[in-house]
Formats: sequence, structure tokens, C-alpha cells
Amino acid sequence: MTQYVAAIDQGTTSTRCMIFDHSGRVVSVDQKEHEQIFPKAGWVEHDPKEVWQNTRQVAAGALAKADLSTSDIVAVGITNQRETAVVWDRNTGEPVYNAIVWQDTRTDKIVTELGNLGGGQERYLQKVGLPLATYFSGPKVRWILDNVEGARERAEAGDLVFGNMDTWVLWNMTGGVDGGVHVTDPTNASRTMLMDLDTLQWDSSIAADMGIPMSMLPEIRSSSEVYGQVRERGALAGVPIAGILGDQQAATFGQACLSPGEAKNTYGTGNFMLLNTGTEKVMSRNGLLTTICYKIGEAAPVYALEGSIAVTGSLVQWLRDNLGMISNAAEIEEHAKTVEDNGGAYFVPAFSGLFAPYWRSDARGAIVGLTRFVNKGHLARAVLEATAFQTREVLDAMNADSGVDLTALKVDGGMVVNELLMQFQADILGVPVIRPVVNETTALGAAYAAGLAVGFWETEDDIRENWAQDKQWEPRMDSARRDSEYKNWKKAVTKTFDWVE
Ligand code: G3P
Repeated sequence: MTQYVAAIDQGTTSTRCMIFDHSGRVVSVDQKEHEQIFPKAGWVEHDPKEVWQNTRQVAAGALAKADLSTSDIVAVGITNQRETAVVWDRNTGEPVYNAIVWQDTRTDKIVTELGNLGGGQERYLQKVGLPLATYFSGPKVRWILDNVEGARERAEAGDLVFGNMDTWVLWNMTGGVDGGVHVTDPTNASRTMLMDLDTLQWDSSIAADMGIPMSMLPEIRSSSEVYGQVRERGALAGVPIAGILGDQQAATFGQACLSPGEAKNTYGTGNFMLLNTGTEKVMSRNGLLTTICYKIGEAAPVYALEGSIAVTGSLVQWLRDNLGMISNAAEIEEHAKTVEDNGGAYFVPAFSGLFAPYWRSDARGAIVGLTRFVNKGHLARAVLEATAFQTREVLDAMNADSGVDLTALKVDGGMVVNELLMQFQADILGVPVIRPVVNETTALGAAYAAGLAVGFWETEDDIRENWAQDKQWEPRMDSARRDSEYKNWKKAVTKTFDWVE
């Protein structure tokens, strides 16, 4: 009997369930978007209950579409938008507040105050690999405890628990108030600012600084082991949940970047480039994060350097939803194709401040270089080029940190269907860009982690063998033009600084 592995991908804009066969090919997918809630400028929230309902629906939907039944699935893996923080009552299962999303900047004062305790933005850097920034979960939990009435008392009494989306989904899948498992994995824990990168344990002194009771924190287990079974009736009932990886780490795993020196770049809501640095923890000198790449069962943890960019695909979404300039994402390429170049316009989408390599929460978005010559096509180009320029900045930082220049870049994610962007990316990097056959590497990575835990795949070599190339773009731009475009971009970036006190 043919068997399969399922993956739940709880992302920033939608939740998906994908089913994979042994060769790593997609058998079926079901997907549901959830509401993006923007209560104030800079705030971004999700409704955790909506996300959980969507998770149940897409699990059933993916099975039905593949005409499979629960007994055909040997394991399920979870992958998720990282950093997004949920606090809920372990007795009732009710969240005390919406999930505060990774893009949300409301914790800017909290992070400044923490830095002022001593050490500034680098206060916890050596321990957790992250600079103090609004991006990470710990300060978001602090905000909820400070601002939701009665939350701190309930947390101190042991009634409230915290989780990123992996933990929220796992807890609910394994029974919720009826015995739900409160667990996370080191890739997710390494995005909270609360986990020591050497011990893979929560650091009580940082938790104390942030006023977060240790009893709220999930147990940190490996990324690939059986955490429990799906408890509810219906789709996937009884199937072991056997893998958890933050979505960017999952994509790294799914892209078979399993040896030191291998890197991938995912084009999603934001862009995230991860370089596998092996069992060695490399600290960045150029604005990158040090993070856990994966920990498979009892094996030693593998580390990564990461360049995180907050806004890439979500800029296209913004043109669609906030400006109505396009009616679907594919239209951006059509507009961009109507012109030869950007007409002198540069769009720096610092909507959540700027992440790597700048880490400036005082930055806000800007379009510069405008003249009356600039039209819709030029702006569409500037939007796509923003993704490629930001990626170049991260790649430069990675080359500088590792001392070895990457000779090609493996890419995946929603935007890599955009041929114009991929060509421009190769042009602006000056190295080839390579897209795999299975572009759904995030869900695939989580499926691999779960499948390895139950013996569906034997070793990481199975993953390497399953990887296959679809298309490669070669750089075609001459170096003088590349340099001048990049110089203009860098100048545009400086115009976004100092917008928030
Ligand atoms: O760190 C944020 C990242 O995990 C979000 O990824 O694909 O949901 O935009 P994505």
C-alpha cells in the first residue's frame, strides 16, 4: 500500500495542508487564507481561533482532494510563520489576545527599554544570536502581559501559556484542554530571544528581564520525533505528529541544504536567506541572525546564519489590497514588462522598519527618484526590484560573514514563478539563480522531518536524492550597470531612516 506524509504549513497569509509521496512530490494541497488585522499603524494581528479552524479544514481538504484516507498517512509535520506570538489559557483553550504577528512593531519601546538595561541592541546577542528588535516573540509576550487586563496575574498563577504558531497548532491537534502537548522545537524557540543557542534551553535571566514566567514556556524538543497523535475525530485522527520546523528552516531542509556552506532564499511575504553553518554556531559581524537550522532527533543541532527581509511579497499584496493598483499578484509582472527599466524610481518597503542587515525600527517605507516620466510599469518594476536589491544586501552580508562567496543561489517560494524578477535577481547578484522542481520546499521540509522520525525516509541522503533542478537564470547585466543600480538603491535606503522617534 502506498503511503504518504502530510504537512501543515501555518503561514503569515494562509494555512495549507500538503500531502507528499516518498519521492517528495506533491500529491495534493488545500489552502485557506486568514484575515490580516491592522488595528493601528505598525500593528499586525491574526485571530488564533480562525487559524486553528482553517488548519482543521485544510487537513480534511487535502485528504479529500487526494482521495486518501487517514490510514494512508504515516506522519504529519508542522511548519509555521515564526515569531508570531499567542498567549492562551491552558484551562479553557481561549487566547487572551490576538496573535501578535512577526511584522508588528508595537514593541519598539519595550525593546529600547530592554537595551537601556545595559548592552543596547546587542544585550542578548551572544546568547540568543539575535539583536533586540520588534521582530522576535519575547517582547510581544511581555506586551500582552503588560496590556491585557489580568493577564500578568493569570500568567503568574500558571494559567496562561505561550506558543508560536507551531505550538498553538500542536497543542490543539493533540487535544487542547484535553491533554494537549505544550511543545516547540529549537528552530522556533531560537526566534523568541529566550533560548540559549548552546544549551537549547530557555534562559531564565532573559525571561526575568522580560517579565515572562517560565511556566508559560513550552518544552523544547527536537525538530524530528513523535510529540503525540492527532486526538480529534476526523481528518488525520490518530496520526503521529512527528516534525516541527519554523518555515524558513523547513524550506532550508526541503531544499536539501544539509551541508555547511549550502544556502537557500525563500520569497514569501518576506524573504529569508539561510546558510547552513553545520554544528558550528557562527556569530555575524554584518547584521545577520544566528539561528538553529534543525535538530533531527538525538543528533547535534545544526546552526544557520539568516538574512531576514520583512517585506517582499507583502509589498505586491499591499499594491493589490491597499492601493488597488493590481487585482492579482501575477499582474505585477505584466505591468513591469511594459517598460525597460525602473525609470529612475526606487521603492524601499520599510513597512516594519528594516530587518537585515540594518535592524532599524525607526525606518518607514519610501518611493524615491520620482519624475513625471514614471508610470505604472516603472512602479511595478521598482516593486519587484526592491525584493532583488534587498536580497543582494543580505547575500553581501553572508559572503562577508562566511568569507566564501556563494557561487549560486537556490530559490523557492511564491514569487519565484515571476520570471522577470528571477532574471533581475540573477543580474543584480551576479550569480546564477536556481529553482527546484518542487517549489513547495517549506511544507516538504516539515514532511521530511516527520517522515524521518517514523522511518518513512531513512536518512538525509534520501532528501538529497529527491532534490531536482527545474530552471536556472544566468546573470546578463553588465557590471557597470549593476553597480550603479545598486548604488542608487543604497542611497534610497538612507531616505527611510529616522521616521519614528
Ligand atoms: O520570520 C517570519 C517568517 O517565518 C514568515 O514566513 O513565509 O509566512 O512569510 P512567511
